[in-house]
Amino acid sequence: AIAGETPHWRPAVRFAPERNWINDPNGLVFFDGEYHLFCQHNPSGDQWGNMSWLHAVSTDLVRWQELPVALEPDELGAIFSGSAVVDHHDTSGFFGGKPGLVALYTSAGDSQQQSLAHSSDRGRTWTKYDGNPVIPNPGIADFRDPKVFWHEPTGRWVLLLAAGDRIQIYGSPNLRDWEQLSEFGAERGAHGGVWECPDLFELPVDGDPARTRWVMIVSINPGGPAGGSATQYFIGDFDGTTFTAEGPADEVRWADRGADFYAPQSFSDVPDGRRLWLGWTSNWDYAAAIPTSPWRGMMSTPRELGLTDAAGGVQLVQRPVAELSDVRANRRAWGGVLTDGSDVEFRGSAVDVVATFRLGTAPVVGVDVFAGPGGRTRVGYDVAAGELFVDRTDSGEAQVSQQFPARHGTPLAVDGGVLALRVVADRSCVEVFAQDGRAVLTDLVFPDSGSDRIAPFAAGGRAEAELEVFDLTP
Ligand code: FRU
Repeated sequence: AIAGETPHWRPAVRFAPERNWINDPNGLVFFDGEYHLFCQHNPSGDQWGNMSWLHAVSTDLVRWQELPVALEPDELGAIFSGSAVVDHHDTSGFFGGKPGLVALYTSAGDSQQQSLAHSSDRGRTWTKYDGNPVIPNPGIADFRDPKVFWHEPTGRWVLLLAAGDRIQIYGSPNLRDWEQLSEFGAERGAHGGVWECPDLFELPVDGDPARTRWVMIVSINPGGPAGGSATQYFIGDFDGTTFTAEGPADEVRWADRGADFYAPQSFSDVPDGRRLWLGWTSNWDYAAAIPTSPWRGMMSTPRELGLTDAAGGVQLVQRPVAELSDVRANRRAWGGVLTDGSDVEFRGSAVDVVATFRLGTAPVVGVDVFAGPGGRTRVGYDVAAGELFVDRTDSGEAQVSQQFPARHGTPLAVDGGVLALRVVADRSCVEVFAQDGRAVLTDLVFPDSGSDRIAPFAAGGRAEAELEVFDLTP
């Protein structure tokens, strides 16, 4: 590495660019054997600017190959966030009757408008539509981030975009001509910041295809529960025109209560029908100060989404994609009783940890990761408070900004006294999935070089635990 570079913080199993700045994932789509990941990118600097779409492809969602930049600024402005779909039946007329890729993105110039580009060569080169913008600006300053999907029952394309702190929904027969169908958000959700990067999809509840709900995703900045940016969601119904949320109007649900999971977007056209998404692992509060080099910004692990009927109503669950297990190696396991004096430990800085705790007298249990002489990151469960947390107050010397050293938590009920944790700790990021994905926390951390100890703990009492630790080796 060149002096100043930080290879020890480069993630092993998630996408990070070779160099320079990235933010939101864009244009996530599966087509012709490849997953495509585009994202907000500055090709010539490690701060936000010159917004373009970086392009990467993968066949397994774990190993990504970066390709040349796909979309660059033009006379309509910079290329802000958006999505991509497979136009299977050439409804757009761009592909001579064959399937092709269509991207809808925001042109950010004097105003924000929605534009289209198409590709006939598996996303390698793109042609911008000469009729751009396809949705001109109606006089709203923040008007961006189109997400498109095919709505089978009405036989048309549906597009969502963020307009101030509302979501507008549009319909189109051909991806070029759009009419507004409805608007969502006046009476629902958190409004502490601007709404960004919407998504909308249908999922079965507890795997039952006869019982489905629609899920509306809305990122918000600022106004998130851990400070800065975060992603809220709504459960409800979509009739092809209007999304109607269910549950109490004043209820706010967060997809991830860590500080660093933003602007997630789901993949179009995943062949086996799974709903997969990934997010930008950062927070607008301090994204510009992330201490990695020569790149700045990375994505979360891809996650599979589901719904489960829980005590408080139907809720979102997220689990790392099954493909992540294919790059596990060097399995180590331990089982026994933990107390204050225990010194069970493993080593690794890109690891997948599966832990089960039978809660006993210990008021706090969990797993420390990235531990070393200079600190540790604590993943824990506070039994009395019923709270799952990540504590990065002592995670290493690099503390990024004043807001950064903090503890982030989420309420979590543990039925039957058994806590099931999955912790994906990957060089400079920790993702925690508890109770089979019902509670999720994603936090960046910048451990001191060599801090690679992993230690389960029970503080102030006893707890029985079982642990498996795998290295993640793509
Ligand atoms: C979200 C966002 C989007 C916008 C993009 C610009 O993080 O602000 O709303 O399209 O980033 O880079």
